Amino acid sequence: MTARVPIGIVMNGVTGRMGYRQHLVRSLLAIREQGGVPLRGGGRLWPELVLVGRNEAKLRDVAAQHGLTDWTTDLGAALARPDVSIYFDAQVTSEREKAIGLAIEAGKHIYTEKPTATTLSGAVDLARAADAAGVRHGVVQDKLFLPGLRKLDRLVRGGFFGRILSVRGEFGYWVFEGDWQEAQRPSWNYRAADGGGIVVDMFPHWHYVLEQIFAPVRAVTAHIATHIPRRWDEDGQPYDATADDAAYGIFELDGGIVAQINSSWAVRVNRDELVEFQVDGTEGSAVAGLRRCRVQHRSTTPKPVWNPDLPSTDDFRSQWQEVPDNDVYDNGFKAQWEMFLRHVAEDAPYTWDLWAGARGVQLAELGLQSAREGRRVEVTELGS
Ligand SMILES: NC(=O)c1ccc[n+]([C@@H]2O[C@H](COP(=O)([O-])OP(=O)(O)OC[C@H]3O[C@@H](n4cnc5c(N)ncnc54)[C@H](O)[C@@H]3O)[C@@H](O)[C@H]2O)c1
Repeated sequence: MTARVPIGIVMNGVTGRMGYRQHLVRSLLAIREQGGVPLRGGGRLWPELVLVGRNEAKLRDVAAQHGLTDWTTDLGAALARPDVSIYFDAQVTSEREKAIGLAIEAGKHIYTEKPTATTLSGAVDLARAADAAGVRHGVVQDKLFLPGLRKLDRLVRGGFFGRILSVRGEFGYWVFEGDWQEAQRPSWNYRAADGGGIVVDMFPHWHYVLEQIFAPVRAVTAHIATHIPRRWDEDGQPYDATADDAAYGIFELDGGIVAQINSSWAVRVNRDELVEFQVDGTEGSAVAGLRRCRVQHRSTTPKPVWNPDLPSTDDFRSQWQEVPDNDVYDNGFKAQWEMFLRHVAEDAPYTWDLWAGARGVQLAELGLQSAREGRRVEVTELGS
């Protein structure tokens, strides 16, 4: 049997939706189930988990359910342990900056959910502090690992589009108000004071999707709304929804590419997937979602003629061609964890760091500024 190389990870926020499902169960426990992460020089990295949270009973339950024994409500004590080398954060956004700051001070490598902080200055401070401390750092950018977006990225790299003109993104679904049917997202997302809001939540994702697949974002114009002003929380109590629940954004990218992305928790789905991007280029177009990606080449593009007097004879959706998988796609969160673990253990390349996270927070902050001031805002480059 190949030797296990233990790597200690403090996981904070594992009782939450993302921390539990995607990071604990679907990533780190799944990595253990597959026998660890193979290392270049032999041996397999074996995550040793220390679960951290606020609620003792919930933590004990999560740990017991998965045969884990190492958990604590004392973050400081967990960070002081010499057998721990990575701190991971999936807490509510508003608690993140403080906890990551402590972990950097304790000399731990950092891996974290987005957004990395609630303000740009906070996000930049974290990136600077991590660099100064010489620790490795990474931020979850899961959408890049979705099969649909991997196929889209492959099309871009393969030159399918010719000159890319525009990107149209549509993200969202109806989040129930919580009165007559339970809401399917935590209530803090709808309170500005608790770090909620769809711009803060989704613009960091749009930033790395646009930057990594297409080109850097140079300017943003956004209009935001709180379409549903009253919601009901986890205890069935009504509250004022003070955060934006819809954002209508225009992003100007290098090369004249215009990206328009609608994000909304107050929209009913009439699409094939919860997020879809249509990309139009001179040579062809594509529509990519979470899993699927369909294309239409210029040579197979129909020539519709506008005539409202006659019913359309074209079945437009059927004129697109499915892009094959041609690959095996693992869970995106797990794939990124494996890359980060190898980055820490054997210096494997890794690009999605706290600076990338800060650029995502910057786009959210500028999007909110654009909405507040009713104008287009340019994105300045972050120093280091
Ligand atoms: N990458 C993605 O696709 C994605 C998707 C959803 C959420 N997120 C991010 O993950 C983080 C967690 O989101 P979630 O949907 O899992 O939230 P959640 O409410 O389900 O979980 C929050 C976690 O933080 C803990 N916590 C610590 N301090 C808290 C406090 N003061 N109030 C409330 N909870 C507190 C909770 O105990 C829980 O473990 C957020 O930063 C969010 O932006 C990322």
